Amino acid sequence: MAAYRKAGLARRAWLLITCCALAVATAGTTAYAAPGRPPVFSPGSPGAGDPYFPDMGNGGYDVSHYDIRLAFDPKTKAIDATTTILAWATQDLSRFDLDFQGPLTISKLSVNGLNAAFTRSGAQELVITPPYGLRKGLPFLVSVSYAGVPQRIDDPALGISGWVATKDGAVALNQPIGAATYYPVNDTPNDKATYSQTITVPSGLTVLANGEPGPTTTHNGQSTFRWSMNRPMASELAMIMIGDLNVTRSVTSDGLPNITAIGKSIDTKPGQGTVLNQTTAQVVQWESSMYGSYPFQSTGGIIADVAVHYALETQGRPVYDQRTSNVSGQLLAHELGHQWFGDSLTPTRWSDIWLNEGFATYSEWLYKEKFQGVPVQQSFEKEYAAEKDWTGKVADPGRDHIFDDLVYNRGAMTLHALRMKIGDRAFFRVLTLWPTTHRYGNVSTRDFIGFVERLTNRDLGAFFDTWLYQPGQPKL
Ligand code: TRP
Ligand code: ZN
Repeated sequence: MAAYRKAGLARRAWLLITCCALAVATAGTTAYAAPGRPPVFSPGSPGAGDPYFPDMGNGGYDVSHYDIRLAFDPKTKAIDATTTILAWATQDLSRFDLDFQGPLTISKLSVNGLNAAFTRSGAQELVITPPYGLRKGLPFLVSVSYAGVPQRIDDPALGISGWVATKDGAVALNQPIGAATYYPVNDTPNDKATYSQTITVPSGLTVLANGEPGPTTTHNGQSTFRWSMNRPMASELAMIMIGDLNVTRSVTSDGLPNITAIGKSIDTKPGQGTVLNQTTAQVVQWESSMYGSYPFQSTGGIIADVAVHYALETQGRPVYDQRTSNVSGQLLAHELGHQWFGDSLTPTRWSDIWLNEGFATYSEWLYKEKFQGVPVQQSFEKEYAAEKDWTGKVADPGRDHIFDDLVYNRGAMTLHALRMKIGDRAFFRVLTLWPTTHRYGNVSTRDFIGFVERLTNRDLGAFFDTWLYQPGQPKL
């Protein structure tokens, strides 16, 4: 999605081309050709240009919406799914790629309702050749039906991501490279889209996903859950949680639906589900007062035994791994802080992930000050004194180091050093105006530096160079 305003258009186009798929497809080369100049169709790029992940994402089109319909069988761990993608061609396309990886078998693939040829190449390229070229500027629908047992990614440096089978169900946690393990996707943070997810499981299990729920229906011992995310979302932030869960629903004092869940096997202490729900509401409310209004239409969170060893800022509804993380208000402040920094504003390149983790870690420091009486200055000084590794580049840590402490701690220290340099008034304006100005967009470190320089009318080039790009402990 190039811009948020496209969403309304996308929904109208969705209806239009669902009805007229054939007409659009067969209009093909003649009806839409510019007079005098026959279109030259060429293949879309197999990557989106991220130096850390050259195969991730693709070129030549822009996705507006994913419609994922998926049935899960907990006995076999298999899925049976159809994903339909509404996209707009950004060049005259002879063929294009989606990212899709692992052992799932494709039974049917169509473009604008017509069967399309496809091959799978390399680790994750699904190469699609529609029967007619796709004209630049026009929408097209891709529908892929597939089945099998998805295989999670277990990367030595980046941990577990993708579709993960659990004791009582499954969870999809995609950051940074897991989305393509269970749906065909333009897997780059630079192509956000809206999502509808329709998940069928044996009755008794519960399904949560991003966004707002639709009706749940039950038929022949199978229950179908519906969720929709109507704000732009990066594929790394899409989530599905299937399990034996206790769900708590409330509404925050800002009127935001707040849907939380906790795995039944770990919901042992009375009131834990209520604590998660209430703390989530409290943190979202407080962060909204600093970062500007909450960017999504509902909130929540899920504590479950997913055994991935991290919590993740999945859009609108983070997932907390009970087994390895101490689920505290401070951790909620981190993952919910990401809703502004990471989710609403998303770095174009993975090298800029400090723009997520620095602000999320700073949210923890602010939480400790507000709710536990530990001044931010004290958190900063502690990290500054304790940090042993001052060698990497915060704003370009390298593919295998995007989740290193350097990115989190020195990222947050950079923000506090900025606060000391420009003063509290300007700094807290940055905390509100940076996420407000770039809401739902993609951002870079360069954008951030330019933004702060314009806001303060100061040249901060040397300051940011020292903190973000130079090895060694910066002098205070
Ligand atoms: N980005 C997540 C967070 O800040 C943490 C995370 C996701 C992570 N995947 C990881 C940490 C892999 C270490 C390894 O909340
Ligand atoms: Zn984080």
